[in-house]
Amino acid sequence: MKNLTRREFLKLFGVGASVLTIAGLSGCGVAPFLSGAAQSAQPRGDFVPDVELKLTATNTQTSILPGQPTQVWKYDGVVLKGDSANLQTIPNSYLGPIIRAKRGQKIRIHLNNALGEPTIIHWHGLHVPPEMDGHPRYAIAPGQSYVYDFEIRNRAGTYWFHPHPHQRTGFQAYAGLAGLFLVSDSEETEANLPGGEFDVPLVIQDRAFNANNQLVYVTNPMDQMMGFLGDRILVNGHPDFAMNVATRAYRLRVLNGSNSRVYKLAWEDGAPLTVIATDGGLLEKPAQPSYVTLGPGERVELWADFSNRRVGSELKLKSLAFAGAEAGMMGGGMMGGGMMGNSNAALPHGAEFTILRVKVDRELKENIQLPERLSTIQRHRLDDAINRQNPRAFGIAMQRMMTWTLNGRVFEMENVANDEIVKLNTLEAWEFVNQTNSMDQMVHPMHIHGVLFQVVERQIAPQFQAVWDTVRAGYVDDGWKDTVLLWPSERVKLLMRFEDFPGMYLYHCHNLEHEDQGLMRNYMIQA
Ligand code: C2O
Ligand code: CU
Ligand code: CU
Repeated sequence: MKNLTRREFLKLFGVGASVLTIAGLSGCGVAPFLSGAAQSAQPRGDFVPDVELKLTATNTQTSILPGQPTQVWKYDGVVLKGDSANLQTIPNSYLGPIIRAKRGQKIRIHLNNALGEPTIIHWHGLHVPPEMDGHPRYAIAPGQSYVYDFEIRNRAGTYWFHPHPHQRTGFQAYAGLAGLFLVSDSEETEANLPGGEFDVPLVIQDRAFNANNQLVYVTNPMDQMMGFLGDRILVNGHPDFAMNVATRAYRLRVLNGSNSRVYKLAWEDGAPLTVIATDGGLLEKPAQPSYVTLGPGERVELWADFSNRRVGSELKLKSLAFAGAEAGMMGGGMMGGGMMGNSNAALPHGAEFTILRVKVDRELKENIQLPERLSTIQRHRLDDAINRQNPRAFGIAMQRMMTWTLNGRVFEMENVANDEIVKLNTLEAWEFVNQTNSMDQMVHPMHIHGVLFQVVERQIAPQFQAVWDTVRAGYVDDGWKDTVLLWPSERVKLLMRFEDFPGMYLYHCHNLEHEDQGLMRNYMIQA
């Protein structure tokens, strides 16, 4: 197919560039879907929570860049029952509070919607009943509240929460609505990892600002179709992030909370990363890749030992260059050497840049050892999958040039197709296939609600091997996952067991602009 220039593209789709800032807020963009059936859920009488929290989604302002404060959206949290350790506020940040809970605890969370548009929260990675999972059909109107009641069944890990209203997830998350949800359990306690101030959350996001320090979101149809990229890297809501550390070991919990940007994490001095956990908690034993490829929605935990570093020294955590994420689409070179797809002139996808700086500022003789064994992981076996001969396959492709599809379909609020129905208490093999041709070479971070899965196989088409080689050593596939990256032409085989809760869940691309356009579907777990 013929390559298009940017001008031709804009002409074809008839939309000129217009800047959309967060400042004006509710009026702009697509009106979010609000199902008539959505009710404020009432507390359930037989559920006695151990922990009760209130989260209010609201707009406020915070200082991000020097000068004028930035209008943001934010989750404000309050502990109603439990202790103050259940909520940890990140100072001067738009990010929501960090929720901490133990496996086995019952938790009640009241979501209050103080925004000017519908919203709902999804607990990314948590295994909760369908009506607690934040499906867009449960979005609540401004002024309403939704009560979540669930037991924490997940193993210890770094999970997170963010909005999930139809067609507004990207906008709302970008405006600031997101937070970490950290689960602990006895297995993790036994691993004896760095705790307290040595257990550091690092939420990496990219943002774009206008001259008045206000957030800028999708500015043209290309951003919407390919995914929005910012040109400022924020960590925990701060630009030029630096952390002061002592000469000892740290646990770094990294979330890629960006809408569409992939990071290729590496220490600047070439030392390997020590990975101790992925989306669904601790690995069996530490992995030591030279870099980690982290897609939107994915988490990785690092063991970072600074005990051999000099007080006064500095170390950067970088994102290294990679190929393939912005190739294709419109062919070569119209935007400052970058390609048209998923591109930001100031900070193209796949460029090298600094994410944060670590400054060793004090001596501390605490000597804590990296455990050889971190946890036990029950391995799923392909032989045990009921569909081992014929894995359930989902092709991701662009149709009619403008629409991302899953097996040819886009999101429908209430519908499930025949090939999207699974049985409770079965183990299945699923395959995602990033079907590309010259028009739609994009990476897709595919995410499944309701389950954690294991990655058992990956394949790439020969013509993409070289591009893939720039990222694939950074996939950490040994542990539990809920989101998995697919490079152009990549095919990934997953194993998952559907347990505990029958009902309807989502699976979708976690490039939030793709998701909002409909690269999302329901699947049904039948009892
Ligand atoms: Cu983190 Cu359905 O998403
Ligand atoms: Cu999720
Ligand atoms: Cu996608």
